Amino acid sequence: MEVKKIVMLGFGDMGKGIAQVCLMAGYNVTAVDVIDKIIQQGLEYNKTGFEKLEEKGKLPKGVTAATMMERLQVNKNLSDAVKDADLLIEAVSEKPDLKQQLCREVIDNSPEHCIFASNTSSISITEIAQGCDKPENVVGMHFFNPAPLMRLTEVIKGDKTSEDTMETVVKVAKTLPCLRGERFVAQVLKDRPGFIVNRVLAPNAIYTNYIVDLAHEKGIPWEQVDADLSNPNAPMSSLTLADFTGRDIAYNAGLYYAEKISADFKPGKVLTMQYNAGTLGKKTGKGYYDWSKGRPQPDLSKKAGLVDRRVFAAISANEGCRILEEGVVKSWKVIDEAILAGMNFPGPMQYATTNYKELSDLLEEYSAKLGKNYLKPCDLLKTGKFVEMQ
Ligand SMILES: NC(=O)c1ccc[n+]([C@@H]2O[C@H](COP(=O)([O-])OP(=O)(O)OC[C@H]3O[C@@H](n4cnc5c(N)ncnc54)[C@H](O)[C@@H]3O)[C@@H](O)[C@H]2O)c1
Repeated sequence: MEVKKIVMLGFGDMGKGIAQVCLMAGYNVTAVDVIDKIIQQGLEYNKTGFEKLEEKGKLPKGVTAATMMERLQVNKNLSDAVKDADLLIEAVSEKPDLKQQLCREVIDNSPEHCIFASNTSSISITEIAQGCDKPENVVGMHFFNPAPLMRLTEVIKGDKTSEDTMETVVKVAKTLPCLRGERFVAQVLKDRPGFIVNRVLAPNAIYTNYIVDLAHEKGIPWEQVDADLSNPNAPMSSLTLADFTGRDIAYNAGLYYAEKISADFKPGKVLTMQYNAGTLGKKTGKGYYDWSKGRPQPDLSKKAGLVDRRVFAAISANEGCRILEEGVVKSWKVIDEAILAGMNFPGPMQYATTNYKELSDLLEEYSAKLGKNYLKPCDLLKTGKFVEMQ
């Protein structure tokens, strides 16, 4: 199926960036949102973005910011906007009922072939498709923020998604440019929580919770714990980043994985205190650090000596093996490529191919030390059998 017209449903933070890359790839895009101010901001974002790219000579030959904007329409009436759509990408607020209801509305009012692709970070694609007449046309299309700069798009197969739908969406995703290199499209073959990248990194929080709770008990300053946790080459220290993202996001992610995967993901004591006290980080002016005068500049010259950084590598490699076991992906290389494209740092699997024994021993030690069974090495890691799954 050839996709020409894309409807961007939800024109907020993610929607406006996804619309930009779709326009740059040559598609006609209609943006739909319920808030006028958001629509105006999205249009302005795209216009100034294209003007800057034009100035820098980065638009395709023969294309100007003005011609690009001519292909971007706005329509506040969803049923009308989708009547001739080939593909709808949904980036509305993260609410299961809302997404389900919009999915039904889109499928009922669009042409037979129209695909509904959700940019959800955590809701199951199968669940979003429930109750609509064509679940085979429903798929996940998960971008990273901001979509024009982050190279990864995960395309997720729900339980009823057809092969044709997967094929079409993978093909479209591959045509979408990225301002920082070539887009990488990772196929997620099973609809499991967190898909690839978020899932592989999620259990690191189990170890981080343990460390910050221990530091809190011992009265160790956050800067010293941060010095332990942080990679000196990263653009932000670990606890600054934690504050920047928001402690509520981490808290809710903990509850989500605790419900879906293992109780060991439950938020720790410090995180729960931060959540209850509303010290959520940048957005409230205080988290681990004080943000009232702008971004904190922690002094990382002194370490607490609490952290063994190899544990993070071991936990991520173990989770990578778990998603191989579950059939989410077939190759460990896809995991590493996806993490590099989505997070800008190397994935854990390559290192594990030669060090799985040491990593498994470390996980045995730390699962006992933390009292967390979930950290035990899974069979694929312990036996090193994942190495053959290239
Ligand atoms: N922000 C991120 O880093 C990120 C990354 C990947 C995926 N996501 C996912 O993308 C989705 C959107 O996230 P966001 O950060 O852009 O949120 P956002 O709040 O910036 O945007 C959501 C938009 O949806 C609109 N909306 C709500 N109900 C609507 C309706 N009935 N019809 C049309 N529009 C409606 C809102 O007006 C708002 O503009 C969520 O599912 C989120 O989980 C977010």
